[in-house]
Amino acid sequence: MTRSSMRITAPDPCNRVRLEDIDLADNALYAQGDPHLAWQTLRAESPLFWQNRSAGEGFWAVTRLKDVRRVLSEHETFTSEAGTAIAMLDSPDPAGGSMMQSTDPPRHHEYRRQLAGRFSSHAAASQAGWVRSFVRKTVEPALDGGVWDAAAAFTRLPMAVGARMMDLPDKDIDPLIHLAFSSLAPGDPHFSQGSEQETALAAHCEIMIYFEERLAEVRKNPADDLISHLLTLSVDGRPLTDDELLVNCLSLLLGAVVTTAQTISAMLVQLAGSRDGEGRWPRDVPLDSLVDEALRWSSPVNHFMRRARVDVEMHGRTIRAGEAVTAWIASANRDEEAFARPYEFDPTRSPNPHIVFGTGSHRCIGSNFARVMLREAFAELMETTESFTLAGDYVHLLSNEIAGFVSLPVRFRAARRPTP
Ligand code: HEM
Repeated sequence: MTRSSMRITAPDPCNRVRLEDIDLADNALYAQGDPHLAWQTLRAESPLFWQNRSAGEGFWAVTRLKDVRRVLSEHETFTSEAGTAIAMLDSPDPAGGSMMQSTDPPRHHEYRRQLAGRFSSHAAASQAGWVRSFVRKTVEPALDGGVWDAAAAFTRLPMAVGARMMDLPDKDIDPLIHLAFSSLAPGDPHFSQGSEQETALAAHCEIMIYFEERLAEVRKNPADDLISHLLTLSVDGRPLTDDELLVNCLSLLLGAVVTTAQTISAMLVQLAGSRDGEGRWPRDVPLDSLVDEALRWSSPVNHFMRRARVDVEMHGRTIRAGEAVTAWIASANRDEEAFARPYEFDPTRSPNPHIVFGTGSHRCIGSNFARVMLREAFAELMETTESFTLAGDYVHLLSNEIAGFVSLPVRFRAARRPTP
């Protein structure tokens, strides 16, 4: 169990961690420790840092916004086809070149061009009413003032939206959430079954079997859902193979499920302030501006990874062709060169050049949907709740990739309704 109030801190600028004590691969750093002090030290002292691992291949780490942008977007220099996260360091990415996220342009552009309409701002906005009523039903049981697990409840929102897009039955929502977290946070005791690799592999296999069955059904009765749409894609002048279809269903599921709700949980923690504090929504700021700052503040994805295709010079050091380079998005979102008062939560912040959805050709395809979910969730919570308090220890996800919550007990005070 990893209770912590340490995850999002404002480290003293004079404080530092010894570089040799930093272990960016250690899941515990993100659940019990303080990654912000480590990232602050790296940005100041070692903007291109070589991370040794006790077992397995080491990797480079960039932590400044400018460098994170470069690594994520320069696909001619840094490939996505040989693993996109630390978890993939020790074995070749089996989905390299077949899953959209693990495919480089120009092939990658073919995927994005044909999927763009499904993920457009218009498509996302058309779901706002449905999202709002889902949030309303989700929050309703909490309005009686009892202790309520906000992390568990809100995790169902992005999965429900994903299920709606892919036309998956409601009964599959909870099992798929469990599988998605087992796959992306296999070291967390709530999800692990054996070693991290065994847990992730077992979850991947189950998800693939699940989608194999769905694909067979959809082939018989194609409709207007996302899976039916995947069946119509043509890449390299041919339809996707079964393997390509399956890994892309997996990727869409994982992208959708594990990230968005973390921003809602992080907001509740931030606004409540402390165990004894009473959280209130900032009601006098534009909702979009609140959403952006909430995204920057929570940064649900800590890092993504690339591999150098050629030797690259950065900060006076050489990244050799073939070496792995991690881009620390959550650190870039606190870069003191890019953000004034980076450790201050300021919902009026403008401009807010955060990089929470990545950048370049792989920039998050689901960002419009994530924004709609957050806007509707915040709007509903502002309307129905007066204030809230933390009602017990919250538990962070044990993961170096996803900055998340496993549970977050809160107590809401319902807004007083005008008497009819
Ligand atoms: C706050 C919520 C979210 C965050 C912070 C987030 C973050 C990211 C980031 C940083 C990337 C870039 C990956 C890279 O450069 O390798 C990405 C890509 C992706 N995201 Fe999201 N995401 C979120 C929500 C979603 C949602 C709701 C979906 C699905 C509906 C989704 C699906 C994807 C997919 C499929 C990709 C791969 C895109 C590509 O390679 O072209 N994400 N996401």
